[in-house]
Amino acid sequence: MMSKEDIAFLTEEEQQEVKLKFLGFRQGLVGVGPIRHLLPSHCTAFTKKYQNFKFCESDVVIATFPRSGTTWTQEIVWTMRNGLDFKTASNVSLNVRSPFFEFDSIYAMHKDIRPDLVAKFLSRHPDGDPKTDGLFLELAEMAPSPRTIKTHLPFSLLPPDILETCKVVYVARNPRDVCVSYYHHQTALETSEFIGDFPDFVDLWCRDLYLQAPFWGHLKEALAKRQHRNLLFLFYEDMKENLMRELKRLNAFLGTGLTEEQLQQVAEHTSIGQMKNRPSVNPPANAYTERARKEGKQDFIRKGTIGDWVNYFTPELETKFQAWLETGGEVAGEISFKYHAEQADTLRK
Ligand code: A3P
Repeated sequence: MMSKEDIAFLTEEEQQEVKLKFLGFRQGLVGVGPIRHLLPSHCTAFTKKYQNFKFCESDVVIATFPRSGTTWTQEIVWTMRNGLDFKTASNVSLNVRSPFFEFDSIYAMHKDIRPDLVAKFLSRHPDGDPKTDGLFLELAEMAPSPRTIKTHLPFSLLPPDILETCKVVYVARNPRDVCVSYYHHQTALETSEFIGDFPDFVDLWCRDLYLQAPFWGHLKEALAKRQHRNLLFLFYEDMKENLMRELKRLNAFLGTGLTEEQLQQVAEHTSIGQMKNRPSVNPPANAYTERARKEGKQDFIRKGTIGDWVNYFTPELETKFQAWLETGGEVAGEISFKYHAEQADTLRK
């Protein structure tokens, strides 16, 4: 179990750099738990609550490293587990249908929380403080059963018995595309407001100095549990290459008993084209920075391809990233990531 001593502080210089490059992290980041998972410093009010959270048998947790296809998988799993209720999927925000477990830790403290959420929270806790009392954690707790909960926390920050209690779907994606996708995400969203360029982001990436880093530690913890009967390990690239095959695996794992025709409907409903145009699965306009809004870069759901990284990595960045890839050691060796769409058919180790 994690204890309070498991907080690692960045060096003064690192913290300055983070604050300078990410305007959203005004109080800086801290490393939590054995892999030094980086979260905004106010997370310390919540980390114990995460580990003590009462999951139940009917819960399904979508656990991913950021930008690995979480939203896509959430929409798929929610739809499959809710009788293909496309109407509710369109009318109710995915954040409410499938709450983001640790969002209290990530939400920028200087930003106002949606008034309707605050009003509901205060109606239940008249003397409470929505920012420090865990409004989003409560949303996860109160989500209608069966709950489908999203998290980017590594296993070491979740309840130790989570896999004995409920099912977890873990989605992994090749780190080059994750890095590019995360750069856009961190730049566009106000919670982080990254103001550097892509080489700056790669530089921070290679030193594990960004929100919810590090990549390898996260993956390592999930890989160690890969054979557990309650864990389904998916790859973004496999979903892109043959979604029906992966939906069938999900159908068996979740016990949803959907027909081929129903799975086809799920595939269509969760296509990138449809999801891009469905407000319920996209952040509201005020979640983006003013700059992103002005430049029309409100693209939480962006390209959705394999291999976009080739458009970003110069030879210099490639050399730097290659050195970082090598720090993946055994974990990197255990997985053969697919970095190009045409590779997607090859057999995986
Ligand atoms: P890109 O930025 O490479 O386009 P997450 O939900 O974990 O934040 O992951 C976001 C990534 O998944 C983004 O990648 C996004 O475009 C992609 N994505 C979202 N919905 C998708 C869908 N229906 N099909 C394929 N990719 C999708």
